[in-house]
Amino acid sequence: MLFVPNKLLLEKAMAEGYAVGAFNTNNLETTRAIVRAARELDSPLILATSEGAINYAGINNLKTMAEIAAQESGLPISLHLDHGTSLEIVMRCIRHGWSSVMYDGSKLPFEENVANARQVVELAHLVGVSVEGELGRLVGVEDNISVTEREAAMTDPDQAQEFVKRTGVDALAVAIGNAHGFYKGEPQLDFIRLEQIRARVEVPLVLHGASGIPDEGIRRAVKIGVDKINIDTEVRAAFQKAVASFLAENPQVIDPRKILGPAIKAMSEVVKSKIELFGSVGKA
Ligand code: 13P
Repeated sequence: MLFVPNKLLLEKAMAEGYAVGAFNTNNLETTRAIVRAARELDSPLILATSEGAINYAGINNLKTMAEIAAQESGLPISLHLDHGTSLEIVMRCIRHGWSSVMYDGSKLPFEENVANARQVVELAHLVGVSVEGELGRLVGVEDNISVTEREAAMTDPDQAQEFVKRTGVDALAVAIGNAHGFYKGEPQLDFIRLEQIRARVEVPLVLHGASGIPDEGIRRAVKIGVDKINIDTEVRAAFQKAVASFLAENPQVIDPRKILGPAIKAMSEVVKSKIELFGSVGKA
């Protein structure tokens, strides 16, 4: 297998006390920016592709871009499906050579999430592909809900233990107050809950929605034992800002390469700063 399964990357991270960054990509510029950053810092890397990204770029395009970037870099890189919600998309990625898949049944009732995740694990493990499951719901930043509702959506530590045991997932994504997109104000992460989950679950833990979490919060999460951290929004924001400012200063330029060049550099800088924060420099 060209790509490295998450299990291998994350078990090393767990043993050595750092986290591997999973950065979302959906095009050539982002893929190259992410891999360039990892290469400069000699870091392991997870290239994350959502179902939306696969629909946008085409599964073969995404795979080939990742493959070439991985080959040229010589780094241990995983190609990972982010938030797969059906067996179809999971199987499609496995057939096309992805080394890791996330099955996200977090919106389903517990028993259904367990049964589906278990099925994905049985199939994926036959061909050496790692599986990430999710328990607890990530509440959107825009969701106007009460504190009690927010807590009810978080991962229950005892249930997490049962979920991992019954499904056999290789990693578990947790909900501890984290959310996708930028946070309105300071994110309120429940680190006590994270510690309780860590104490009950033996597999690597995953923190989604890490854009906008202050560096101190990330360091604390890694110290407690988060082993994979997902970043998307901050890379997108760097892309947007670089393109907007380039075009504001150079409205006459029509060459996409000139317009997108600064964006690649800006995205790469964000990825580099995250890799440094996660502690995976030199761990390739
Ligand atoms: P952000 O967009 O908040 O960085 O979250 C990324 C993520 O968790 C992808 O699964």
